[in-house]
Amino acid sequence: MRLARTVAELATALAEVRGEGRPLGLVPTMGAFHEGHLALMRAAIQAGDAAVVSLFVNPAQFGPDEDLDRYPRDEERDAELALATGVSVLFVPRVEEMYPPGFDTRVEPGTLATVLEGEVRPGHFGGVATVCTRLFGLVRPQRAYFGRKDAQQVAIVKHVVRDLALGVEIVACPTVRDEDGLALSSRNAYLSASDRGAALALPRALEAGLHIGRSGGRSDEIIAAAKQVLESEERVAVDYVAIADLDGPTLAAAVRIGSTRLIDNVRLDEADTTTLS
Ligand code: PAJ
Repeated sequence: MRLARTVAELATALAEVRGEGRPLGLVPTMGAFHEGHLALMRAAIQAGDAAVVSLFVNPAQFGPDEDLDRYPRDEERDAELALATGVSVLFVPRVEEMYPPGFDTRVEPGTLATVLEGEVRPGHFGGVATVCTRLFGLVRPQRAYFGRKDAQQVAIVKHVVRDLALGVEIVACPTVRDEDGLALSSRNAYLSASDRGAALALPRALEAGLHIGRSGGRSDEIIAAAKQVLESEERVAVDYVAIADLDGPTLAAAVRIGSTRLIDNVRLDEADTTTLS
């Protein structure tokens, strides 16, 4: 595995990897790897791509009161995991490398970026779209892999790629969950044992909504069923429960437990959506 910290080192590493003949599959991440991240890397490798992983905690997508400073960072462990997974290039730029002096462009996604997460986190998806567009430009991958865990993010990135004709195929990969149903997330590290118990209301709520949907329930009934489960857990504060077209009909929810914010979603149109627990 080649480790690149600068754009110049990245270019050298990519030239070597391109010479080996496999197409490039980019996996953008903010690090603190868990099985969800590793599943994206494995998907790239299984598709025959040389996996190029970026690890960059992107300040442009965090709001002023968000967790940029305390976001979990463990580059050494991440590098070991990437190596063990078979990644070809790990790109770990510093902020000045991604946003060099004079950087003055922002990719501003449209309507879809103003609802759900975009409503609660203004500017968030602009930050995501900007960093992803720059990464696509730096790496020029054939494919880029994203997790459905962040369904709105995938839908927005697909839209940006289409609108700006960026020429990269976006591959959406299934959400990886713990045995108890909780979707893996770097932010789960913030949860105490009792917080974690409360957090399980989130996948349970989505499961309840999915069940109503599969038995022919209307959208308002699906949402009500999910809300009922969340509201029965007193430590959970609900930001939203909604059905939206996120690259397909999706039941999405965001909750807060203390100062930790968690999001999750399920597709409503897929018979084979995996059981959540
Ligand atoms: P991050 O939260 O590190 O996630 C990196 C990728 O892993 C995203 O595509 C995310 O959807 C995926 N992922 C996270 N948890 C997952 C899970 N449990 N199952 C499947 N996939 C999962 O998302 C970001 O970083 C950033 O916004 C980024 C795209 C890197 C731009 O800065």
